[in-house]
Amino acid sequence: MFTLINKLPPNITYTISHKLLKYLPHKLIPWKSFCKYPVKLLCGVELINPVGLGAGIDKDGDLLRQLLNVGLGFVVVGSITLRPRKKIQGVNYVKYPKYYTMLNALGLPSRGLHYVYSKLNEVLSKYDGLTKVFVSVAGFSCEEFVKLVYYISKISKVSIIELNVSCPQYIDKINIDYITDVLKHISSITTKPILLKLSPKLSRSVLRELFRKTSKYVDGYVISNTFPITFKYVKTGIAGLSGYLLFKTNLGLIREVIRLGIHETHDIIYSGGVVSANQIIQLLKLGFRAVELVTLFTFEYFYGIYRILHSLCNVAYYCENKSK
Ligand SMILES: Cc1cc2nc3c(=O)[nH]c(=O)nc-3n(C[C@H](O)[C@H](O)[C@H](O)COP(=O)(O)O)c2cc1C
Repeated sequence: MFTLINKLPPNITYTISHKLLKYLPHKLIPWKSFCKYPVKLLCGVELINPVGLGAGIDKDGDLLRQLLNVGLGFVVVGSITLRPRKKIQGVNYVKYPKYYTMLNALGLPSRGLHYVYSKLNEVLSKYDGLTKVFVSVAGFSCEEFVKLVYYISKISKVSIIELNVSCPQYIDKINIDYITDVLKHISSITTKPILLKLSPKLSRSVLRELFRKTSKYVDGYVISNTFPITFKYVKTGIAGLSGYLLFKTNLGLIREVIRLGIHETHDIIYSGGVVSANQIIQLLKLGFRAVELVTLFTFEYFYGIYRILHSLCNVAYYCENKSK
């Protein structure tokens, strides 16, 4: 059914699949795999496996009940903004199924902190499973970031907060001093681990400077958000490239991050075009702590998660038996 939906015009695909997922009773989800990969600690949080669903799929927590039941290590809700925001008008998606790649120009739509805060409390008050919940927040000023983090920190079952400072529609040039200032303010109001999500479009010197200035205020980084591309079908004129082509363009960034040795002092999540268990194994070997999937989910939905977790399980099982 989802393959058929993928053939519809992209904006319709989004609306239909979101509605179907939202009302899907979680007991009916046909693919479920509780993959127990050798336990990984991410910023002190114990994960059943290192695979999470990244920000952008469940922006408002509406799908959380279903997503917590598919055996993932973690699910990222968001990005949440302080006030409700609509998606920008125009063509919001273009999908390239052959390359597992897409462009999106949503413009950070969110039902806002108030809605998501209640939703998270409602779902998490009845949840005692093993999948962890992270929340991604996106502020348009230091004050907004502080408010978002303050309220999300009150929800005990949220394990980690991700700061999205890299949405391609709004951030065309990184401002390291501004980000450092935001982090300084945040570190005094929360005890939850903080991850900073970075753009893939950072030069070596900027990356070095960014790590130097921010590393004492964060517990880790998410590398990376989507890659900004000129896109004439929306007002902002920019879309974010994601999926397998992003993985290809991120290879240099991956090398650079490892070369700088950030993974030795901080936990790093890799995000960008992960579509197979083999990629995950390579990334973990390099020193990344966990990976996030997003575009894969927009093509294969729950089956994509099952496929990845199932292969990872097999590898874990194989390694365990080989070492005996
Ligand atoms: C439709 C869509 C919406 C996204 N929304 C967000 C978001 O709200 N916040 C965020 O930090 N990243 C967002 N992202 C970026 C993803 O979390 C991820 O970092 C990026 O797409 C690369 O991973 P992928 O290639 O597996 O999709 C979004 C990506 C897509 C495709």
